[in-house]
Amino acid sequence: MLTEADHPIESVAVVGAGLMGRRIAGLMARAGVTATLTDANAAVLDSALADAQAMCPGNDHLVTIDPVVANAVATVDLVIEAVIENLDIKRALFSDLRAANPTAILATNSSVIPISAIAADLDDASLTVGMHFWNPPDLIPIVEVIRGAGTADKAMDRSMELLARVGKLPVRVERDVAGFVGNRLQHALWREAIDLVASGVCDAETVDLVVRNTIGLRLAEMGPIENADYVGLDLTLAIHEQVLPSINRDPHPSPLLEELVSEGSLGAKSGHGFLDWPAGSREAAAARLSAHVSAQLAARSPQPATKGTS
Ligand SMILES: NC(=O)c1ccc[n+]([C@@H]2O[C@H](COP(=O)([O-])OP(=O)(O)OC[C@H]3O[C@@H](n4cnc5c(N)ncnc54)[C@H](O)[C@@H]3O)[C@@H](O)[C@H]2O)c1
Repeated sequence: MLTEADHPIESVAVVGAGLMGRRIAGLMARAGVTATLTDANAAVLDSALADAQAMCPGNDHLVTIDPVVANAVATVDLVIEAVIENLDIKRALFSDLRAANPTAILATNSSVIPISAIAADLDDASLTVGMHFWNPPDLIPIVEVIRGAGTADKAMDRSMELLARVGKLPVRVERDVAGFVGNRLQHALWREAIDLVASGVCDAETVDLVVRNTIGLRLAEMGPIENADYVGLDLTLAIHEQVLPSINRDPHPSPLLEELVSEGSLGAKSGHGFLDWPAGSREAAAARLSAHVSAQLAARSPQPATKGTS
Protein backbone atom coordinates (compact mmCIF):
# COMPACT_ATOMS: atom_id res chain seq x y z
CA MET A 1 0.00 0.00 0.00
CA LEU A 2 1.23 3.52 -0.77
CA THR A 3 2.58 5.45 2.20
CA GLU A 4 0.25 8.31 2.79
CA ALA A 5 1.08 11.60 4.42
CA ASP A 6 -0.54 12.23 7.80
CA HIS A 7 -0.80 15.99 7.76
CA PRO A 8 -3.98 17.87 6.89
CA ILE A 9 -4.42 18.59 3.19
CA GLU A 10 -3.01 22.03 2.42
CA SER A 11 -2.72 22.08 -1.35
CA VAL A 12 -5.09 20.96 -4.07
CA ALA A 13 -4.88 20.70 -7.84
CA VAL A 14 -8.15 20.66 -9.76
CA VAL A 15 -7.94 18.98 -13.17
CA GLY A 16 -10.69 20.18 -15.48
CA ALA A 17 -11.47 23.89 -15.13
CA GLY A 18 -15.05 23.79 -16.41
CA LEU A 19 -18.29 24.56 -14.63
CA MET A 20 -17.43 22.51 -11.53
CA GLY A 21 -13.63 22.59 -11.38
CA ARG A 22 -13.24 26.37 -11.31
CA ARG A 23 -15.74 26.73 -8.46
CA ILE A 24 -14.19 23.88 -6.47
CA ALA A 25 -10.83 25.67 -6.76
CA GLY A 26 -12.45 28.95 -5.68
CA LEU A 27 -14.08 27.48 -2.61
CA MET A 28 -10.81 25.84 -1.55
CA ALA A 29 -8.89 29.11 -1.84
CA ARG A 30 -11.67 30.99 -0.06
CA ALA A 31 -10.93 28.79 2.97
CA GLY A 32 -7.15 29.25 2.75
CA VAL A 33 -6.23 26.08 0.83
CA THR A 34 -3.81 26.59 -2.07
CA ALA A 35 -5.47 25.60 -5.33
CA THR A 36 -4.03 25.13 -8.82
CA LEU A 37 -6.34 24.85 -11.81
CA THR A 38 -5.33 22.93 -14.91
CA ASP A 39 -7.13 21.77 -18.05
CA ALA A 40 -6.34 19.92 -21.27
CA ASN A 41 -7.81 22.94 -23.05
CA ALA A 42 -5.55 25.81 -21.99
CA ALA A 43 -7.94 28.30 -23.61
CA VAL A 44 -10.41 27.96 -20.73
CA LEU A 45 -7.88 28.70 -17.99
CA ASP A 46 -7.96 32.50 -17.99
CA SER A 47 -11.72 32.69 -17.54
CA ALA A 48 -11.57 29.83 -15.02
CA LEU A 49 -8.98 31.73 -12.97
CA ALA A 50 -11.06 34.92 -13.03
CA ASP A 51 -14.18 33.02 -11.91
CA ALA A 52 -12.32 31.22 -9.11
CA GLN A 53 -10.62 34.39 -7.90
CA ALA A 54 -13.92 36.26 -7.85
CA MET A 55 -15.12 33.75 -5.25
CA CYS A 56 -12.32 34.45 -2.80
CA PRO A 57 -11.44 38.16 -2.58
CA GLY A 58 -8.50 38.58 -0.22
CA ASN A 59 -7.41 35.01 -0.82
CA ASP A 60 -7.41 35.29 -4.62
CA HIS A 61 -3.63 34.87 -4.73
CA LEU A 62 -4.14 31.29 -3.50
CA VAL A 63 -5.61 30.24 -6.87
CA THR A 64 -3.23 29.81 -9.78
CA ILE A 65 -3.30 28.14 -13.17
CA ASP A 66 -0.83 25.79 -14.85
CA PRO A 67 -1.57 24.59 -18.38
CA VAL A 68 0.60 21.48 -17.96
CA VAL A 69 -1.42 18.91 -16.03
CA ALA A 70 1.63 16.92 -14.83
CA ASN A 71 3.25 20.06 -13.43
CA ALA A 72 0.08 21.32 -11.79
CA VAL A 73 -0.41 18.12 -9.82
CA ALA A 74 3.21 17.18 -9.08
CA THR A 75 3.56 18.39 -5.50
CA VAL A 76 0.05 18.79 -4.12
CA ASP A 77 -1.58 16.79 -1.31
CA LEU A 78 -4.83 16.22 -3.20
CA VAL A 79 -5.82 16.10 -6.86
CA ILE A 80 -9.51 16.51 -7.71
CA GLU A 81 -10.39 15.52 -11.25
CA ALA A 82 -13.41 17.30 -12.69
CA VAL A 83 -13.12 16.45 -16.38
CA ILE A 84 -16.01 15.27 -18.55
CA GLU A 85 -18.13 12.36 -17.31
CA ASN A 86 -16.46 9.64 -19.39
CA LEU A 87 -15.05 6.50 -17.80
CA ASP A 88 -12.29 5.88 -20.36
CA ILE A 89 -11.02 9.47 -20.10
CA LYS A 90 -11.14 9.51 -16.30
CA ARG A 91 -9.49 6.10 -16.05
CA ALA A 92 -6.58 7.08 -18.31
CA LEU A 93 -6.28 10.39 -16.47
CA PHE A 94 -5.98 8.66 -13.08
CA SER A 95 -2.98 6.67 -14.39
CA ASP A 96 -1.34 9.87 -15.66
CA LEU A 97 -2.03 11.65 -12.36
CA ARG A 98 -0.55 8.80 -10.32
CA ALA A 99 2.57 8.80 -12.54
CA ALA A 100 2.92 12.57 -12.00
CA ASN A 101 2.36 12.41 -8.24
CA PRO A 102 2.96 9.12 -6.40
CA THR A 103 1.63 10.21 -2.99
CA ALA A 104 -1.35 12.53 -3.50
CA ILE A 105 -4.90 11.46 -2.81
CA LEU A 106 -6.60 11.21 -6.21
CA ALA A 107 -10.24 12.23 -5.97
CA THR A 108 -12.89 12.14 -8.67
CA ASN A 109 -15.86 14.47 -8.86
CA SER A 110 -17.72 11.95 -11.03
CA SER A 111 -21.49 12.22 -10.62
CA VAL A 112 -22.28 8.53 -10.96
CA ILE A 113 -19.29 6.41 -12.05
CA PRO A 114 -17.96 4.05 -9.36
CA ILE A 115 -14.53 5.09 -8.05
CA SER A 116 -13.17 1.57 -8.38
CA ALA A 117 -13.84 1.65 -12.13
CA ILE A 118 -11.97 4.96 -12.50
CA ALA A 119 -9.05 3.61 -10.42
CA ALA A 120 -9.04 0.21 -12.19
CA ASP A 121 -5.68 0.68 -13.91
CA LEU A 122 -3.77 1.69 -10.77
CA ASP A 123 -1.60 -0.91 -9.03
CA ASP A 124 -2.64 0.55 -5.70
CA ALA A 125 -5.98 2.31 -5.18
CA SER A 126 -5.51 3.05 -1.49
CA LEU A 127 -5.18 6.80 -2.13
CA THR A 128 -8.26 7.18 -4.33
CA VAL A 129 -11.65 8.49 -3.24
CA GLY A 130 -14.84 9.82 -4.72
CA MET A 131 -15.41 13.47 -3.84
CA HIS A 132 -18.80 14.29 -5.29
CA PHE A 133 -19.60 17.99 -5.11
CA TRP A 134 -23.04 19.13 -6.25
CA ASN A 135 -23.62 22.09 -8.52
CA PRO A 136 -22.99 24.87 -7.61
CA PRO A 137 -20.28 23.40 -5.38
CA ASP A 138 -19.80 26.55 -3.30
CA LEU A 139 -23.51 26.70 -2.49
CA ILE A 140 -24.74 23.11 -2.07
CA PRO A 141 -23.57 21.93 1.37
CA ILE A 142 -23.10 18.20 0.86
CA VAL A 143 -20.03 16.54 -0.61
CA GLU A 144 -20.29 12.75 -0.86
CA VAL A 145 -16.96 11.12 0.02
CA ILE A 146 -17.00 7.67 -1.53
CA ARG A 147 -14.87 4.72 -0.54
CA GLY A 148 -13.67 2.73 -3.55
CA ALA A 149 -12.78 -0.96 -3.32
CA GLY A 150 -9.18 -0.25 -2.27
CA THR A 151 -9.56 3.12 -0.50
CA ALA A 152 -7.60 3.41 2.77
CA ASP A 153 -9.26 4.74 5.94
CA LYS A 154 -6.77 7.56 6.14
CA ALA A 155 -7.62 8.79 2.64
CA MET A 156 -11.30 8.90 3.66
CA ASP A 157 -10.48 10.66 6.95
CA ARG A 158 -8.18 13.29 5.42
CA SER A 159 -10.74 14.03 2.70
CA MET A 160 -13.55 14.39 5.24
CA GLU A 161 -11.41 16.69 7.40
CA LEU A 162 -10.51 18.96 4.47
CA LEU A 163 -14.09 19.29 3.30
CA ALA A 164 -15.36 20.16 6.76
CA ARG A 165 -12.54 22.72 7.09
CA VAL A 166 -13.54 24.46 3.83
CA GLY A 167 -17.12 24.73 5.05
CA LYS A 168 -18.79 21.79 3.33
CA LEU A 169 -20.97 19.10 4.90
CA PRO A 170 -19.09 15.93 3.93
CA VAL A 171 -20.76 12.53 4.28
CA ARG A 172 -19.22 9.09 4.04
CA VAL A 173 -20.49 6.72 1.38
CA GLU A 174 -19.03 3.39 2.41
CA ARG A 175 -19.85 1.38 -0.70
CA ASP A 176 -18.96 2.26 -4.23
CA VAL A 177 -22.35 2.00 -5.92
CA ALA A 178 -23.14 3.83 -9.18
CA GLY A 179 -24.75 7.19 -8.40
CA PHE A 180 -23.67 7.03 -4.74
CA VAL A 181 -26.49 8.28 -2.48
CA GLY A 182 -27.91 11.51 -3.88
CA ASN A 183 -28.01 10.63 -7.55
CA ARG A 184 -29.52 7.19 -6.91
CA LEU A 185 -32.37 8.87 -5.07
CA GLN A 186 -32.70 11.66 -7.60
CA HIS A 187 -32.81 9.35 -10.60
CA ALA A 188 -35.23 6.91 -8.98
CA LEU A 189 -37.58 9.91 -8.89
CA TRP A 190 -36.74 11.05 -12.43
CA ARG A 191 -37.33 7.55 -13.85
CA GLU A 192 -40.81 7.51 -12.35
CA ALA A 193 -41.47 11.12 -13.41
CA ILE A 194 -40.64 10.32 -17.04
CA ASP A 195 -42.66 7.11 -16.91
CA LEU A 196 -45.75 8.96 -15.64
CA VAL A 197 -45.53 11.21 -18.71
CA ALA A 198 -44.68 8.37 -21.13
CA SER A 199 -47.58 6.25 -19.94
CA GLY A 200 -50.08 9.11 -20.17
CA VAL A 201 -50.92 9.39 -16.47
CA CYS A 202 -50.41 13.17 -16.66
CA ASP A 203 -48.50 15.70 -18.72
CA ALA A 204 -44.96 16.89 -18.03
CA GLU A 205 -46.05 20.20 -16.49
CA THR A 206 -48.32 18.36 -14.06
CA VAL A 207 -45.49 16.13 -12.81
CA ASP A 208 -43.42 19.15 -11.86
CA LEU A 209 -46.39 21.04 -10.44
CA VAL A 210 -47.20 18.11 -8.13
CA VAL A 211 -43.58 17.62 -7.02
CA ARG A 212 -42.97 21.31 -6.38
CA ASN A 213 -46.16 21.67 -4.36
CA THR A 214 -45.98 18.44 -2.33
CA ILE A 215 -42.79 16.52 -1.62
CA GLY A 216 -40.61 19.35 -2.93
CA LEU A 217 -41.86 21.62 -0.16
CA ARG A 218 -40.95 19.07 2.47
CA LEU A 219 -37.72 17.52 1.33
CA ALA A 220 -35.28 20.25 2.36
CA GLU A 221 -36.55 19.96 5.93
CA MET A 222 -37.46 16.29 6.31
CA GLY A 223 -35.74 13.50 4.39
CA PRO A 224 -37.48 10.27 3.37
CA ILE A 225 -36.21 8.23 6.30
CA GLU A 226 -37.33 10.67 8.98
CA ASN A 227 -40.57 11.17 7.03
CA ALA A 228 -41.23 7.40 7.00
CA ASP A 229 -40.74 7.26 10.77
CA TYR A 230 -42.83 10.40 11.22
CA VAL A 231 -45.90 9.10 9.38
CA GLY A 232 -45.42 5.62 10.85
CA LEU A 233 -43.66 2.58 9.45
CA ASP A 234 -46.94 0.60 9.48
CA LEU A 235 -48.44 3.15 7.10
CA THR A 236 -45.25 3.15 5.02
CA LEU A 237 -45.45 -0.64 4.75
CA ALA A 238 -49.11 -0.54 3.72
CA ILE A 239 -48.37 2.09 1.05
CA HIS A 240 -45.44 0.10 -0.30
CA GLU A 241 -47.52 -3.06 -0.53
CA GLN A 242 -50.04 -1.15 -2.62
CA VAL A 243 -47.85 1.04 -4.82
CA LEU A 244 -44.47 -0.65 -5.36
CA PRO A 245 -45.77 -3.32 -7.77
CA SER A 246 -46.78 -0.61 -10.27
CA ILE A 247 -43.81 1.75 -9.89
CA ASN A 248 -41.44 1.69 -12.85
CA ARG A 249 -38.39 -0.52 -12.34
CA ASP A 250 -36.95 -0.69 -15.85
CA PRO A 251 -33.19 -1.32 -15.79
CA HIS A 252 -32.80 0.87 -18.90
CA PRO A 253 -33.64 4.49 -19.79
CA SER A 254 -37.18 5.31 -20.90
CA PRO A 255 -37.82 4.88 -24.65
CA LEU A 256 -39.43 8.36 -24.53
CA LEU A 257 -36.18 9.84 -23.21
CA GLU A 258 -34.18 8.02 -25.90
CA GLU A 259 -36.57 9.26 -28.59
CA LEU A 260 -36.32 12.90 -27.47
CA VAL A 261 -32.53 12.75 -27.41
CA SER A 262 -32.29 11.05 -30.81
CA GLU A 263 -34.45 13.76 -32.42
CA GLY A 264 -32.27 16.50 -30.90
CA SER A 265 -34.74 17.60 -28.22
CA LEU A 266 -32.16 17.99 -25.46
CA GLY A 267 -34.07 20.35 -23.19
CA ALA A 268 -32.97 23.86 -22.27
CA LYS A 269 -29.83 23.78 -24.41
CA SER A 270 -31.70 22.97 -27.64
CA GLY A 271 -34.87 24.96 -26.93
CA HIS A 272 -37.12 21.95 -26.48
CA GLY A 273 -37.28 18.84 -24.30
CA PHE A 274 -40.24 17.70 -22.25
CA LEU A 275 -41.02 21.42 -22.13
CA ASP A 276 -40.37 24.38 -24.44
CA TRP A 277 -37.39 26.60 -23.59
CA PRO A 278 -37.62 29.97 -25.37
CA ALA A 279 -34.53 32.22 -25.58
CA GLY A 280 -33.43 33.45 -22.16
CA SER A 281 -35.43 30.88 -20.19
CA ARG A 282 -32.40 28.71 -19.41
CA GLU A 283 -30.58 31.66 -17.81
CA ALA A 284 -33.75 32.64 -15.97
CA ALA A 285 -34.06 29.08 -14.61
CA ALA A 286 -30.44 29.11 -13.40
CA ALA A 287 -30.99 32.43 -11.60
CA ARG A 288 -34.29 31.24 -10.12
CA LEU A 289 -32.69 28.06 -8.80
CA SER A 290 -29.70 29.81 -7.35
CA ALA A 291 -31.86 32.43 -5.58
CA HIS A 292 -34.13 29.71 -4.21
CA VAL A 293 -31.28 27.55 -2.87
CA SER A 294 -29.59 30.59 -1.27
CA ALA A 295 -32.84 31.69 0.38
CA GLN A 296 -33.55 28.20 1.70
CA LEU A 297 -30.06 27.89 3.14
CA ALA A 298 -30.34 31.30 4.79
CA ALA A 299 -33.71 30.46 6.33
CA ARG A 300 -33.27 26.83 7.32
CA SER A 301 -33.17 25.45 10.82
CA PRO A 302 -29.89 23.98 12.14
CA GLN A 303 -29.12 20.57 10.65
CA PRO A 304 -28.74 17.57 12.95
CA ALA A 305 -25.24 16.09 12.96
CA THR A 306 -25.11 12.74 11.20
CA LYS A 307 -22.98 9.72 11.91
CA GLY A 308 -21.39 10.12 8.47
CA THR A 309 -19.96 13.57 9.16
CA SER A 310 -17.74 12.66 12.10
N1 LIG B 1 -22.24 20.01 -14.07
C1 LIG B 1 -22.78 19.53 -12.96
O1 LIG B 1 -23.89 19.92 -12.55
C2 LIG B 1 -22.04 18.51 -12.14
C3 LIG B 1 -22.41 18.28 -10.82
C4 LIG B 1 -21.68 17.35 -10.05
C5 LIG B 1 -20.63 16.66 -10.64
N2 LIG B 1 -20.31 16.90 -11.95
C6 LIG B 1 -19.19 16.15 -12.52
O2 LIG B 1 -18.05 16.98 -12.57
C7 LIG B 1 -17.25 16.63 -13.70
C8 LIG B 1 -17.04 17.88 -14.54
O3 LIG B 1 -18.28 18.40 -14.96
P1 LIG B 1 -18.43 19.88 -15.54
O4 LIG B 1 -19.89 20.12 -15.69
O5 LIG B 1 -17.58 20.82 -14.76
O6 LIG B 1 -17.76 19.68 -17.00
P2 LIG B 1 -17.27 20.79 -18.05
O7 LIG B 1 -17.51 20.21 -19.39
O8 LIG B 1 -17.81 22.14 -17.72
O9 LIG B 1 -15.68 20.86 -17.80
C9 LIG B 1 -14.84 19.79 -18.04
C10 LIG B 1 -13.45 20.32 -18.35
O10 LIG B 1 -12.55 19.21 -18.40
C11 LIG B 1 -11.59 19.45 -19.41
N3 LIG B 1 -11.00 18.17 -19.79
C12 LIG B 1 -11.55 17.17 -20.52
N4 LIG B 1 -10.72 16.12 -20.59
C13 LIG B 1 -9.60 16.46 -19.89
C14 LIG B 1 -8.39 15.79 -19.57
N5 LIG B 1 -8.15 14.53 -20.00
N6 LIG B 1 -7.47 16.42 -18.81
C15 LIG B 1 -7.70 17.68 -18.36
N7 LIG B 1 -8.83 18.36 -18.62
C16 LIG B 1 -9.77 17.76 -19.38
C17 LIG B 1 -12.37 20.13 -20.52
O11 LIG B 1 -11.49 20.89 -21.37
C18 LIG B 1 -13.34 21.02 -19.72
O12 LIG B 1 -12.82 22.33 -19.53
C19 LIG B 1 -17.99 15.50 -14.41
O13 LIG B 1 -17.50 14.26 -13.95
C20 LIG B 1 -19.42 15.70 -13.96
O14 LIG B 1 -20.18 14.51 -13.99
C21 LIG B 1 -20.96 17.83 -12.70
